[in-house]
Amino acid sequence: MVQRVELEVSEKYQPNIEEVVLSSPDVDSYAAHTVLDLVANKPDAILLLPTGNTPKGMYRIIAEESNYGREVDFSKVNVLNLDEYWPISGGHFASFKYYMKHHFYNYVNIPREQRYIADGGYPEPFTETARIQGHLEVFKKKGIDLAVVGIGKNGHLGFNEPGTPHDMETWITELSEDTRRANASDFILPEHLYGIQESIPVPHHAITLGLGENGIRAAKHIMLLAKGEAKAEALRRAFREPSTEEVPASALQNHLNVTIVADYAAAEGLGAA
Ligand code: PGA
Repeated sequence: MVQRVELEVSEKYQPNIEEVVLSSPDVDSYAAHTVLDLVANKPDAILLLPTGNTPKGMYRIIAEESNYGREVDFSKVNVLNLDEYWPISGGHFASFKYYMKHHFYNYVNIPREQRYIADGGYPEPFTETARIQGHLEVFKKKGIDLAVVGIGKNGHLGFNEPGTPHDMETWITELSEDTRRANASDFILPEHLYGIQESIPVPHHAITLGLGENGIRAAKHIMLLAKGEAKAEALRRAFREPSTEEVPASALQNHLNVTIVADYAAAEGLGAA
């Protein structure tokens, strides 16, 4: 049973932002059940979903509890991913397409044609950003029910790095050195697959949904997950200081329905642990 702790102080601080502070395993469970309950009540839900270390636990619980559609049916759900590296092939072990398959799509019954992600292998990224933006706008018209997002140590949201205007649509972004370093461990060749262990360079670019109302903020509800002390400062800067382009996640201060789900360590940044 997830224990839910809502903080009076923060509710006063920003009435549109709910803050839920839990143990790390309970963050996974809370996030997973938010998605499972939504899909159980609205089988044709439209979701924007993230990758990264933080949501792995959420995906594991969704996988277990949906039981490949036998418990919670995902067959009418549409998913658009927040971002993808560019260039990268979809079969590359560090691509987000590969991540989604291995952490999520192998375990839920979402038909292939309802899974949307930028094609990092497409040679001309601007055509691809336009294609993804087109899908986002179609989904926005129907109603995007939930965006699940993480936060970078530098405050990034999706791959919108510090300095990104808050009104952007889908675009091709240059990754900061902080982000390339943070993600470098995903680019070590898995020895069991390749017989050698070697690091390969992290791409310098990515295709990402923007932060605007025709981007991540098009979703009716945004759930931001943050775990670990490394995220505390980013949360503080995003939600305890005025919104600024230097902290992309602070764009969420200008959205009507945000839930921050943080573990105790990350919530230190909210003064809430
Ligand atoms: P992480 O990444 O979950 O791997 O920490 C989050 C992010 O960079 O958005």
